[in-house]
Amino acid sequence: MAKLFDVAVIGAGPGGYVAAIRCAQLGLNTVCIDEWKNSEGTPSLGGTCLNVGCIPSKALLESSENFERAAKKFGEHGIKLENLSIDVPAMIARKNKIVKAFTSGIAMLFKKNKITSMHGRGMLLDRQNENQLWNIQVSNGDQSEVVQAEFVILATGSTPRPFPLVEIDNDKVLDNVGALALSEVPKRLGVIGAGVIGLEMGSVWRRLGAEVTILEAQPGFLLSADESVAKEAQKVFTRELGLVIQTGVDINSIKQNKQQISIAYTDSNKESQKLEVDKLVVAIGRVPNSKGLASDGNGLSVNSQGFIEVDAYCRTNLPSVFAVGDVVRGPMLAHKASEEGVAVAELIATIKKQAANNESLPKVDLAVVPWVIYTSPEIAWVGKTEQMLKAENIPYKVGQFPFMANGRARALGETHGFVKILAHAETDRILGVHMIGPFVSELIAEAVVAMEFKASSEDLARIIHAHPSLSEVLHEAALGVDKRALHI
Ligand code: FAD
Ligand code: NAI
Repeated sequence: MAKLFDVAVIGAGPGGYVAAIRCAQLGLNTVCIDEWKNSEGTPSLGGTCLNVGCIPSKALLESSENFERAAKKFGEHGIKLENLSIDVPAMIARKNKIVKAFTSGIAMLFKKNKITSMHGRGMLLDRQNENQLWNIQVSNGDQSEVVQAEFVILATGSTPRPFPLVEIDNDKVLDNVGALALSEVPKRLGVIGAGVIGLEMGSVWRRLGAEVTILEAQPGFLLSADESVAKEAQKVFTRELGLVIQTGVDINSIKQNKQQISIAYTDSNKESQKLEVDKLVVAIGRVPNSKGLASDGNGLSVNSQGFIEVDAYCRTNLPSVFAVGDVVRGPMLAHKASEEGVAVAELIATIKKQAANNESLPKVDLAVVPWVIYTSPEIAWVGKTEQMLKAENIPYKVGQFPFMANGRARALGETHGFVKILAHAETDRILGVHMIGPFVSELIAEAVVAMEFKASSEDLARIIHAHPSLSEVLHEAALGVDKRALHI
């Protein structure tokens, strides 16, 4: 007799595990099926985010930033250090400890919420008719069993996009897994892709002493960010951090021998170039994990790029089957995945109470998902960029204020960057907020709240901000929308 559940969640990343917890909180009998094993071969919950993504990358960014501060900035505080060195295995061990604490924490949360956790690969099979339950096969090695559930949430995430010219071996040629686990600082590190992973991982190893060259196919730098933010970021990353960033490149071949990796490419002037490195990180985007997830013939609709097709409520084309996170459209971000997980859990609970009508259904507004890139300075934004507003012919006003003119930033010694607010020229409603500077990963939350509440720049300008604090930069930028910033 198959085990029966109200909800089966496939995938225990931030989309799946959060969905499972919220389902359980709502009284639904829930199973979460996940196949992840860590480098020791042990099942480990939390998906990409906790195991090889958000959390470990931020741990290494913090370690390497401390190292760089000690090397370059402590002197101006009168703090003298001699013979500064980095113990990379100790840094990696600290990162692993943080990961372990979080992944085992999810197991505890599952226990506390009485969620059944199954290790193995899940596959959505079929259901006989609409009054029947969905069958889900769970395979683990040569063991296989079928569980049944009324509702299914697919949350299988994504994996690195393969690069046809080279195989990832996570020894010399690395994806995010290998880039987070190096045992020493490479002398020369190449990175393909100046996206989020390329910039974060490039920053980590550059700060620790590697010569880092990033090769980017797009003609410009960080095209998804507001142009002025991207320009400031490129200036600081190249001039101060020392990243070499080449845009508009076309990679022709990658050859390896025991000593090094040679990358032959055409640069933006159409000239042939060669880059020789000791390690190469490939970070050219991620692809959704939808292959083999549903049995042939059950009709789950997947688009040409592999994303499971869903509507605004994360409903797939199959009744009672939902999909959330990286495996569906929208930004590939942990908080987006989790919010979709919560919304779907609440939607299922609503359907169970037979109270679903389209006006009250919970859903995630993708227009107000914040982005953060954890470089130094950090980059964060929410809403539309200036180039989008121009393209869409939306009239707007701009308020911008630099961290250089902020007392707290000066005391921190972190004065690069600015906050820029874009507000509608007629209604003053905030349309986008763009930041580059210290701790903007935290400051962006205020902008998200403002946009969620459909605030105007005047609303932000009228709110009292503590002094001295970095949040005053946001306040001054809001005042700046009507040309009344006080400290510039
Ligand atoms: P995942 O986290 O990928 O989890 C999916 C889970 O499903 C995995 O455990 C997988 O093994 C399992 N699975 C897949 N197929 C099956 C199957 N058939 N059966 C059973 N289990 C299956 N995002 C941020 O918001 N902030 C950051 O700072 C950030 N940093 C990142 C740094 C790096 C290096 C990387 C790679 C990503 C980062 N991300 C960050 C992105 C973030 O990790 C993802 O957006 C997020 O993990 C997506 O969550 P998910 O639940 O959709 O999928
Ligand atoms: P990305 O989409 O951010 O960047 C990939 C880059 O590679 C792009 O700039 C692209 O133009 C470039 N590229 C593609 N093909 C190329 C080629 N053949 N040659 C040279 N360049 C090429 O993807 P990335 O960095 O792999 O990260 C994947 C996703 O993970 C991100 O989009 C983001 O959603 C998530 N992530 C989020 C983080 C955060 O929130 N702080 C941190 C790390 C990852």
